[in-house]
Amino acid sequence: MADHEVNAVPVLRWEEPPEGPVLVLLDQTRLPGEEVECFCTDVPALVAAIRALVVRGAPLLGVVGGYGVALAAARGFDVEEASEQLAQARPTAVNLGYGVRRVRGVHERALAAGAGPEEAAAAALAEARAVHREEVEAGAAMGRHGWALLRELLPGGGLRVLTHCNTGTLVSGGEGTALAVVRAAHRAGALRRLWVDETRPLFQGSRLTGWEAARSGMAYSVLPDNAAGSLFAAGEVDAVVVGADRVAADGSVANKVGSYPLAVLARYHHVPFVVVAPLSTVDPGTEDGAGIEVEQRAGHEVTELAPGVSVAPPGARVYNPAFDVTPAELVTALVTESGVVSPVTPEGLAELCSRSRTR
Ligand code: MRU
Repeated sequence: MADHEVNAVPVLRWEEPPEGPVLVLLDQTRLPGEEVECFCTDVPALVAAIRALVVRGAPLLGVVGGYGVALAAARGFDVEEASEQLAQARPTAVNLGYGVRRVRGVHERALAAGAGPEEAAAAALAEARAVHREEVEAGAAMGRHGWALLRELLPGGGLRVLTHCNTGTLVSGGEGTALAVVRAAHRAGALRRLWVDETRPLFQGSRLTGWEAARSGMAYSVLPDNAAGSLFAAGEVDAVVVGADRVAADGSVANKVGSYPLAVLARYHHVPFVVVAPLSTVDPGTEDGAGIEVEQRAGHEVTELAPGVSVAPPGARVYNPAFDVTPAELVTALVTESGVVSPVTPEGLAELCSRSRTR
């Protein structure tokens, strides 16, 4: 059985029971302990699920944003208002607005062309499915391009790859982004070890990437984020491979907080720092890293390991940005479904985007 079949994970599905359409999400907050589903029948429930990270990861946020608009259309809610609420649910991953805009645009154009509400809702659902399918296909292509790049940069094989956060099947339903590259290396028998940063404070690395790595039979180890430095110093890391939530026009990369220190460490230790992201994550409308809005999350995520399990004194003030920004000069290569940009320059990025648009 192929790896993708073994690991097929139902991250989301659209159901149409007689009571009306439902978007069913795998609740990622409950992994790895339990596989529980979350049923969204309206947009406020979906917005709450997005904010709570029931569903997360840049490409999947675009996909659920699209399905959210389709849900609003199919259930007869105000699509414009629903689109605004969905697009604003989380600020950093540009994919969310991208998915929402695409599906809303199709719905609007269908109505303007004289379609009735049901026909327009069907067109919206078809577009949401297209966004989903494209992200799955992009994951497979990124896996191929990224693996070819790693072979070129590190011809010896026996790779030890450090990754951060979760970038796998759980972020697209397909192979994922950075983890698609790791999967390709693993399938080729070239992955010696996957180092999984636990990714404080919400543990997307240990909980989710660990879960996916175990299901795929990868040799993996989880480490506390603050052990990465000594791992590099011991010469145990051949490459860092991470995803992105937004890539600005100058090539700055917003990704899960803790990515930037890894890029600094990688540069100091002469290790490639590779970012893997679909073109839906590239945002030519954001000029540079300073223009990327970084989501600030609630303090209890840092001060409590679980509800009621405190790891800080009551009233402690907290700094809890969900993302950080790595400047382009620290990124060895950006891998997209349309190819690789290296070095990451505004010109190289603009060229790739325009080439992809004209295909
Ligand atoms: O807060 P999250 O869990 O949504 O953050 C996700 C990440 O930072 C991923 O690394 C990123 O979306 C890239 S993978 C698609």
